[in-house]
Formats: sequence, C-alpha cells, structure tokens
Amino acid sequence: MNLYDRIPNNVNLSEDKRLHRALELWLPNYLNWWHDMGPEGFQDKDVWLRTAIDVGSEGWAHFDYVKMPDYRWGIFLEPAQADAKVGFGDNFGAPAYQEVPGEFRNSLRRIIVTQGDTEPASVEQQRLLGHTCPSLYDMRNLFQVNVEEGRHLWAMVYLLQAYFGRDGRDEADELLARRSGNPDKPRILEAFNQPCDDWLNFYCFTMFTDRDGKYQLSALAESGFEPLARTCRFMLTEEAHHMFVGDTGLSRVVRRTAQLMKQNEDVREVGGIPLEIIQKYINFWFSYSLDLFGGEISSNSADFFAAGLKGRFKEQEQYTDHIAAEGSFTMQVVESGNLVPREVPLRNALNEVLRGEYGRDCEKGLARWNKALADEGVVAPTSVGEGDHRLRSVPLLYLPNIRFHRHVGEYSSHHFDTEGNLIPREEFEQHKNSWLPSMEDREYVRSLMHPVTEPGKIANWIAPPSSGIKGKPFEFEYVRL
Ligand SMILES: [Fe+2]
Ligand SMILES: [Fe+2]
Repeated sequence: MNLYDRIPNNVNLSEDKRLHRALELWLPNYLNWWHDMGPEGFQDKDVWLRTAIDVGSEGWAHFDYVKMPDYRWGIFLEPAQADAKVGFGDNFGAPAYQEVPGEFRNSLRRIIVTQGDTEPASVEQQRLLGHTCPSLYDMRNLFQVNVEEGRHLWAMVYLLQAYFGRDGRDEADELLARRSGNPDKPRILEAFNQPCDDWLNFYCFTMFTDRDGKYQLSALAESGFEPLARTCRFMLTEEAHHMFVGDTGLSRVVRRTAQLMKQNEDVREVGGIPLEIIQKYINFWFSYSLDLFGGEISSNSADFFAAGLKGRFKEQEQYTDHIAAEGSFTMQVVESGNLVPREVPLRNALNEVLRGEYGRDCEKGLARWNKALADEGVVAPTSVGEGDHRLRSVPLLYLPNIRFHRHVGEYSSHHFDTEGNLIPREEFEQHKNSWLPSMEDREYVRSLMHPVTEPGKIANWIAPPSSGIKGKPFEFEYVRL
C-alpha cells in the first residue's frame, strides 16, 4: 500500500520519514479497530461521502461513492500564519510554540489525548445505528459523521506521533484500545460511555455532544501551540456538518410529532414520539454534555490559559484583555444546603465561561424546534420566544437549568430540579422518570426504529429533510445496499 496515496495530507508526510514510519505501524491497527468497532453491517456498501482532500475554502470537500474501509482519512492543518503569536495568557505576544514546550508537555498531551479519545468513542457508540436508519439520507449522514470522527482521531494521532515521540506513540495505541461503555477500559469522558442506540439519541448526541466538541475545538483553535491550533481550525469545518445533522434531525422529529398530534392527541397511537419523551432526551444529553466542560472552578482551566494552551471561545474576536489575570466571575455554589453566589478569579472560571457560550448556542436550536411546533400550528406563534412555556397547554421545548443532573463539578454532589432549584435526593428520585428517559421511554423509542432503506422513503416518526446533500434530492440513492 502506498501510504502517500492512502493518506491525503498537507503536512509533507512523504518527506518526514519518522512520522511516516509511525503512521505505517498505526494504520493497520486503526483499520482493525474500524472493522471491529466501526459501523456494523455496511462496510462493503458504497456510500456517497465527502472526503477532505485539501484545506482551501473552495472545493476542500470531494463527494463520491466510497466503501467506508477505503475512506481516505487524511491529515490537514489550516495554513500557518506568518508571525503567529501566543494569543493569551502569561506568554501573550510571544512567538507561537512550533514545538512542544517542555514545561507544558504533560498538559498538552493530556489535552490532545482527551480530545482524541472522544472521536473513536462516538463511532463506537453509534456503530449499530445503520440497522435502524429512518432513511437512506439519514444513513449516509450517520456514516459521514462516523468517517469524519475517524479522521478527527487521525488529526490528534498525527499531533501525538509528530510532536511527542515515544509516549505519543503509546498514547496513539491506547486511543485504539479503550472502548466506549466498557467497564474495564472505558473512554475517558462519561458522555462517551453512554449508549447511543436509537436515532433520537443520535440526533441529541450530534446536537449537544458534538456541539461541546465545537466549543472545545474553538478554544484549542486559539492555542499558542500552533500545530494544535491549525489542526482544530480545520476540524471545525467538518464539525459543523455533525451539528447540522443533530439540529435538523431533532427539528424533523419535532415537526413530525406536531403533524401526528393533529391526527391523534396521543401520538403513540399513530407511531410518533411524544414531545415529553423528546424533552427527556434533551434533558439527558444536554446535562451530560455540560459535564464535558469540566468543573466550574478549575485550576486546570487557569493553568491551560496561563500557559497559552487553551483560550476562550473566539478569544481574539471577543476580548480585548487577553491576560484575564484580574477579572472575576460570580457563580452559584452550594454552601450549607443553600445556593449562594461566589466570586471566583476569572482564570479559574473559564470552563464555566465556555459552558455559558455553549448554552446560548444550544438555545438557538431550541428556538428552531419550537418554531417547527408553531409552523405546524400546535402552539401559538407568539408563544415562541416569550420563554414561559408553563402557560401553554402544549409546553414548548426547553433546556434544563445547567445545575440539573450533573456528574462533574460543583453541582454533582447535590440534586436539582430542571429549573435549577436545590432539592432533596428523594424528591429527585420521585421525579426522575418525568425528567429523564425511563426504561419504558427508551423501549418505546426503540420499538419505532425500523429501517427504511428505499430511496425517497422515510420512517413515520420523522419528517423528511427540506433538501438533500450537496444539491442531490432527498430521493437520491445515498447508500447502495
Ligand atoms: Fe470530532
Ligand atoms: Fe463531531
């Protein structure tokens, strides 16, 4: 196999003998992992996929039928900026790091490994979904997301192998050894150990969990370690499609539910997914995804910022003070059974700052889904945007409070309702099944998941998309079965 043809890249792979050798050893292991843990049952099918073959804003994406194991997972970095500087922190204004600074080596490796681990994890979580796809269009989007998460793994493995020597190579191997949900060798972050075994989960995952990825990658795209910044900038172009799949997927489910509600008050009678269940899935995935940002008060976030390794969202565009050594941030913490405000040095609150940006972005999705309800006439158009969902007979969809159902940080050792009120454990347990998907909810959703694979056809519980992919109609044969 010619490695240069196999791995499209703009990192001069053909000149770099050491990297070439490392990737040559890693590639067969990667392909074995893909075979074992990638999409099950469709490896020999032609899928209409886009492949990154260049980084230019025009035409970087090449569309064609590809069998997934033949996908050309490439290594692309955004072009280097002349005179790049460290954009924030204690070394603000110094030349960007082109090699790993010795004193930050462990931090940087940890950042890259944590990001890298999420990429194969999501492929593992989604590996059975092809069997229950609601349409060929959706199946193709699933596989597109999967191969691109594979490429994101490559992107992080490239950094480990090119910049970290022996321990980087070991970490690259470990990334193929951990398994989502496996109690003995789980993936690093908990959202990536949760099962994603039906399509409502999948759309929530790509809406909420991939969106966490957007914010992590955006913060790393600011990094003073230039190879990481350039890698993440290019990954963000692909991530946008993943979030599109989730956002529009949920919109289509909500729209279809609204249509079915007009046929029958109980949408279960007509094979739809009730809004209450959709709300519970939102609560579940939003809260798990919030955990991915880390603790509210974090010395890691302060250290990473000080070192110039991980910035804020749109650090250069949004801020004028890139040192952020003096400001403070007020957040709610629990003290002797009460929620009280606490002022925290800004650098220690950067996880929370990033989480706030993320929450505001998620709100936009909710607004779109509620607009779908209004478009279908099941809620008054005026109720959308007013915010008070409790006044409507059909409640609008909403995001739970950021304190609800958390497993990481300040709130993880307490219980809160979906509005963020501190409540006793017993009260949480009593309401749990009305806030989070119950076993029965999950079983009901699973009972609807029958594959629809005829071009142009779609499952009953979801509306078709408003258009196809890259100018192709919805009826296009996106996967040749
Ligand atoms: Fe990714
Ligand atoms: Fe993604």
